[in-house]
Amino acid sequence: MNEAAIVIQGLRHTFPGPHPVEVLDGVDLEAPHGAFVSLVGPSGCGKSTLLQVLAGLITPNSGESLIEGRSTVGEPGLSAYMPQKDLLLPWRKAIGNAVLGAEIAGVPKAKARAAALSLMERFGLTGFEESWPSQLSGGMRQRLALLRTFLVPQHVLMLDEPFGALDAITRREMHQWLQEVWATDERTVLFVTHDVEEALILSDEVYVMTPRPGRISARLSINYPRPRRSEIVTEPKFVADKARLLSALDKGGAS
Ligand SMILES: Nc1ncnc2c1ncn2[C@@H]1O[C@H](COP(=O)(O)OP(=O)(O)OP(=O)(O)O)[C@@H](O)[C@H]1O
Ligand SMILES: [Mg+2]
Repeated sequence: MNEAAIVIQGLRHTFPGPHPVEVLDGVDLEAPHGAFVSLVGPSGCGKSTLLQVLAGLITPNSGESLIEGRSTVGEPGLSAYMPQKDLLLPWRKAIGNAVLGAEIAGVPKAKARAAALSLMERFGLTGFEESWPSQLSGGMRQRLALLRTFLVPQHVLMLDEPFGALDAITRREMHQWLQEVWATDERTVLFVTHDVEEALILSDEVYVMTPRPGRISARLSINYPRPRRSEIVTEPKFVADKARLLSALDKGGAS
């Protein structure tokens, strides 16, 4: 398997209607197998639209969208996709929510349940298997939604701002935790965020998008040794890379 896990080439999309919205204007992006790739861009630039194309939920006007060499057009389910809203079902307990994606992907119920129970500890949810989503903290809800995504038996994970709604302290904890989980998982991650620091801490590669209609304005490879601790944000190399990304975001805005 030499081809990249994710390939986006010349992707264009306009939402039709009386006031058509041109969202993606020729986007190119690649994620090698096993890489953690982030996509950063201003609100409304088309990040979620791009993920929905990769998830097979939106058919683009033109361009290629491939997961492990297969076109995602009209093919939902080639990846494990966590939408921007966690979409936990309030009438299902934590365990019932955890198995949902795996069940939809065709994993037998008992097998999905056993796999979910075995991951509860790693996802910090031990003892809350029978809790309702409303009884969980924000961080726990996000970990549950992530657990559900990780249980989907696909190599590529796509996470749309999974920590967007969390406070700064919980977010930092989640960064450490996600690195640990991903390090033992060997899957490819495409991670969407507004947060340049978050992208730098987590990623092997960061893509920056322009404001709508979205194009890629910069791409930066990140080679800091792993695991990366929160304190890395004060290191000169990190500060310099952050400045480069912020400047790429600002330039995108000026063009
Ligand atoms: N189904 C739709 N129909 C029409 N327009 C849409 C649809 N979905 C999104 N849009 C528009 O497309 C643009 C891009 O939306 P998208 O959700 O992809 O942005 P985003 O980069 O994910 O933003 P955010 O960072 O706020 O989540 C927005 O202007 C939005 O209003
Ligand atoms: Mg979005």
